[in-house]
Amino acid sequence: MNLKIAVLGGDGVGPEVLAQSLKCLRAVEETFHHHFTFTEGDIGAVAMEKYGKPLPEVTTELCRASDSILFGTIGTLKYDANPSAKVRPEQGLLQLRRELELFANIRPVKVFPTLVNKSPLKKHVIFGTDFIIYRELTGGIYFGEKKLSKDGTIASDLCEYSEKEISRIAHFAFKSAKNRRKKLTLIDKANVLETSRLWRKVVTKIGESYPEVALEFLFVDNAAMQMMLHPNQFDVILTENMFGDILSDQGSAICGTKGLLPSASIGNDFAMFEPFHGSYPQAEGKNIANPIASILSTAMMLSHFGLHEESSAVVTAVDKSMRKQIVTQDLNPDSKYGTNEVGDFIAANIIDSDENYNYNYENIGLGRSTII
Ligand code: IPM
Ligand code: MN
Repeated sequence: MNLKIAVLGGDGVGPEVLAQSLKCLRAVEETFHHHFTFTEGDIGAVAMEKYGKPLPEVTTELCRASDSILFGTIGTLKYDANPSAKVRPEQGLLQLRRELELFANIRPVKVFPTLVNKSPLKKHVIFGTDFIIYRELTGGIYFGEKKLSKDGTIASDLCEYSEKEISRIAHFAFKSAKNRRKKLTLIDKANVLETSRLWRKVVTKIGESYPEVALEFLFVDNAAMQMMLHPNQFDVILTENMFGDILSDQGSAICGTKGLLPSASIGNDFAMFEPFHGSYPQAEGKNIANPIASILSTAMMLSHFGLHEESSAVVTAVDKSMRKQIVTQDLNPDSKYGTNEVGDFIAANIIDSDENYNYNYENIGLGRSTII
């Protein structure tokens, strides 16, 4: 398969973790005889410095001309510390999601058996946790009208949803549930919000066409609690933009580190793949950020294009890195492996898992990588 891939590293550790994903995709190319072309584009604070805006037109055009987009991370300490900045790096990502209509953000949360001890929750609580969040990504309070009174003392953000915006993602979520454990939980605040009541109405109606899927409703406050008490009760979660943002971070904590989880943002015409986690500017350039979330995002991408064997090869190699403890320090504080070395190991194990099975792991300590 030929794929044109736009590569948007963004800010912080984004470019570093994404570089590991590209290594893995090169390994997939070599092993399975595909042809991927990578073209880099600027977004976020980097783009603001170069073009004066977080999403220059050339980047949007690049994305439109590509089959797929790989995204790193966005945001810097400089802007986080300045709430009155008029233009922010994050706006680049929001604008891109909106312009390409990437309305469905898909975030799987699965506890890796090798890492159960990393979770802040007790083993018996997280046992079997495997759910997937369908977060609406281009509507709601993120994109409603924003107002600030002239004297700067009153502000508002409008939360608006249309039936169409709800139904297109609801169909995605029901289809996913149909292929999984056949349970869909709509998370909302229907006891208070008009938009949530519309979500319930529209989703209930759509549910009639998926009789095999059990539909249940949870208020978001209760859902946040349930996610900590019994995370394994969930199969597919469907929710609006803001609740999905919060719940997906909470969900990722169940796995012990945010550095592991991938995500996909899908629309009818475009698809973008990115790690769950933020730009972690404190780690920038230090070769310590965990590249696994980014690498697993490429596995999601491969599956999206029907390349399931290729996707499994990536996941298997990631799994092996964890079993062999070729991991960054967030997973093992004593680890001597960095972002690059973990990326090298995973890529090498995609190319030939048997050849590397008895590898002398001592030789791939930081700065001494022998696996290229
Ligand atoms: C995410 C991020 C973004 C969001 C930020 C960077 C705008 O937190 O992808 O979850 O809030 O959607
Ligand atoms: Mn978020």
